[in-house]
Amino acid sequence: MIILGIETSCDETAAAVLKQDEKGRIQILSNVIASSAQLQSKYGGIIPEQAAREQLKSIIPVIKESLQVAGYRAQDVDAIAATYGPGLIGSLLVGIETAKTLSKVWQKPLIPVNHLIGHFYANWIDSRDSLLDHSLTRLGKNEKQATSNETPKFPAIGLLVSGGHTDLVLFKNHGKYEYLGGTRDDAAGECFDKCARLLGLPYPGGPEISKLASQGDSTVFNLPSPMIHSKDFDFSFSGLKTAVARIVDSGQVTGDSQKADLAAAIEKAIVDVIVQKTIAAAQKYKVEQIIVAGGVAANRKLVSDLNLKCQISNLKLFVPPPELCTDNGAMIAAAAFFIKPINHPLSIQANPNLSL
Ligand code: KG4
Ligand code: ZN
Repeated sequence: MIILGIETSCDETAAAVLKQDEKGRIQILSNVIASSAQLQSKYGGIIPEQAAREQLKSIIPVIKESLQVAGYRAQDVDAIAATYGPGLIGSLLVGIETAKTLSKVWQKPLIPVNHLIGHFYANWIDSRDSLLDHSLTRLGKNEKQATSNETPKFPAIGLLVSGGHTDLVLFKNHGKYEYLGGTRDDAAGECFDKCARLLGLPYPGGPEISKLASQGDSTVFNLPSPMIHSKDFDFSFSGLKTAVARIVDSGQVTGDSQKADLAAAIEKAIVDVIVQKTIAAAQKYKVEQIIVAGGVAANRKLVSDLNLKCQISNLKLFVPPPELCTDNGAMIAAAAFFIKPINHPLSIQANPNLSL
């Protein structure tokens, strides 16, 4: 079974061709991503109209390239999968309307995928080998468990940490999940991005803060880990951003070394609360597996701390290689292997507010 996956929910235009073999293993044959992030970086964030305009230009070349690299023609594809929400409306429209058109013209089934669910399915991709070596070098010995090539088993706790979402869910099976809690205001990635902006770092801020943090001392500045002691599975990150703004405004950050210390404190405050609540959810619901997904899952400290806690609590941790944590078409195609095509492809509409 061959699926073409299309992803355009934010500033990426992505298409991938994935294959599921007789044993059920899902492998990447191609994974093409065109990003307008460099352009966005110039403006300190995403300008939705500009992102959609760039996506309109790249969508067909990206799909063509994904087929070419995979060595397949349109008629070899068994189904087309595309993100239909949540995300920026203009961006979503580019991907889903292209997918609808291709489905009609190529006479192929269409599988609409919730972007948030798609993120989790990066953990079901089997052909992570080429990416795996790179991840292991990057992560170090302690984190090997997190990048094993097995696929997750249910029940499992799902942690989604991205630019727009911080959610904990209980996965009971494919397509069967229960929402446990999430952020009440800013998402973890959003908090990284906003704090980075306060420190004068470019967008996207997560990787920038993380890079700086590795040279800093997280104990110099005292930042809150909001809601870390609350018994529920909700998060709140807007207070942290305000605390960072106050420190910056007070003139305490005068040089590179203070900047690195503050970055380390920000990273620690965000990571501590995520790790604590994720492990608590696994214990409360008595599951043995944790599946992590979303752009912030590319954060080295988050993976390292989660892995350490999982080892202590005998939990199995799944984290995609960094390349599959941020938005890509492969995760959308991977999810589609577990979702039925819809009967009337042309009836599907982009839904910017789609939830888990
Ligand atoms: O999942 P994603 O690519 O897009 C959304 O669906 O939102 O996530 C993007 C987010 C951005 O906020 C970015 O700053 C964050 O993921 N991110 C990171 C890292 N890499 C990406 N945050 C912390 N550390 C990283 N290494
Ligand atoms: Zn995403």
